[in-house]
Amino acid sequence: MGKRIGIGLLGLGTVGAGVANIIQTPLGRNPLVEGIELVRVAVRDLNRSRAASIPSSLLTQNPLEVVDDPSVEVVVEVMGGIEPARSLIMRAIAAGKSVVTANKAVIARHGVEIAAAARASGVYVLIEAAVGGGIPIIEPLKQSLGGNRILKVSGIINGTTNYILSRIAKEGVAYSEVIKEAQELGYAESDPAADVEGFDAADKIAILSGLAFGGPIKRESIPTEGITNLNSLDVDYANKLGYEIKLLAVAERLAQGTDNSTSLPLAVWVRPTLVPKEHPLAGVNGVNNAILVEGDPIGNVMFYGPGAGAGPTASAVVADILNLAGIRVIKNSTNCLDPLLAGSSWRNCHVVDPSEIIQKHYLRLKTKDNPGVIGRIGSVFGNHDVSIQSIVQFAANEDEAEIVVITHEVKQSQITASLNAINTQEEIKGLTAQMVCI
Ligand code: NAP
Ligand code: HSE
Repeated sequence: MGKRIGIGLLGLGTVGAGVANIIQTPLGRNPLVEGIELVRVAVRDLNRSRAASIPSSLLTQNPLEVVDDPSVEVVVEVMGGIEPARSLIMRAIAAGKSVVTANKAVIARHGVEIAAAARASGVYVLIEAAVGGGIPIIEPLKQSLGGNRILKVSGIINGTTNYILSRIAKEGVAYSEVIKEAQELGYAESDPAADVEGFDAADKIAILSGLAFGGPIKRESIPTEGITNLNSLDVDYANKLGYEIKLLAVAERLAQGTDNSTSLPLAVWVRPTLVPKEHPLAGVNGVNNAILVEGDPIGNVMFYGPGAGAGPTASAVVADILNLAGIRVIKNSTNCLDPLLAGSSWRNCHVVDPSEIIQKHYLRLKTKDNPGVIGRIGSVFGNHDVSIQSIVQFAANEDEAEIVVITHEVKQSQITASLNAINTQEEIKGLTAQMVCI
């Protein structure tokens, strides 16, 4: 492996510590992860306890020492806020360093200026973690969906508010309690007003809109309403009428086939919205986010997953770092192939014998309707160390019963051995259905 790629981390909070944890445990990940090295880390408070163990020699309270360090090749900005984050990103770009950032507040407001500076310096500013936490949505909009004319992007793109709304709707937990939990879990912004007032979702839909429709919009022009004025009575009434209330962010094209020389009219907004229970967004609960992209000709695609938190967000940050590592490989080798795009494998894999696979099983047995038959079947499973989740008897006809068993997770070989033993019993008439459960 060539020289490692030096990472300067601005921030070691929820996301920064998650990133450090991935970089420090490369085993079993793409080999490019091994080529990443944390060389400098900026924090506000050197004495704070951290969710990642970093040698104190790497820590500094001066972010300029990170950006200006010659061994820092890529600056990862996960400190949040507008300033000094914006200036530090611009300084890194001016020094010819690529930047990875999770900071949607900066990108939504200063993305145009930052992108222009990055183009002029010949570096990248990658922002996968800025929208949707761990969900890949920036790269799909930039690349995988590139052949489409995007018609609409809509979704649940704030984990904190979705967590709050789900807990209130499903468990009746008090708002004050659940917002505290969202903060403790690392979902909320340092000022959670950004979440509950809808500003964070507005930052994110501004970014998605720019990527989907090919031109930036003014962040301040997005009508935004959060969840703070939402009354639990309305949640209740909506529920009774067949709806869930979700904080939706939407960006929709209002003209078809407009040529690229005219300004494209868009409807962009963030507000609590009644979503029919059968709609795919209605079932998105907890910290999960989901983004529906409607394109021509693809139709609808939905991107779903954890929208906030250390691990998911760090996953997106590291994906961007790996893209930069891949680009460096292209630059530095005569082969000229990006290792992430070129088909490659880095270890041996094999498929295990199916009898070794551990799963839950559903079994339906036809038996004589004898007293105690359930107990005898249960004992056979017990003798083979198969723990039963449920066992129920249904009447088949006059003197026959059907017994349905759902097991806990066991090896297929244990099920086979149990069934062999059960089949030797005179009262068992046969296995009538067998499936696995997830
Ligand atoms: P956080 O836990 O508050 O961490 C911020 C880190 O930056 C802390 O380590 C803090 O140092 C450091 N920091 C802040 N200002 C600094 C300054 N002036 N100089 C040096 N260090 C400074 O925030 P986070 O949740 O990780 O979020 C970071 C960024 O990621 C934000 O832009 C956020 O919007 C974005 N994001 C977060 C999530 C999430 O789930 N949390 C998801 C997606 C995107 P101390 O620790 O010493 O205070
Ligand atoms: N505070 C944000 C949220 C973090 O809850 O969605 C992820 O961007």
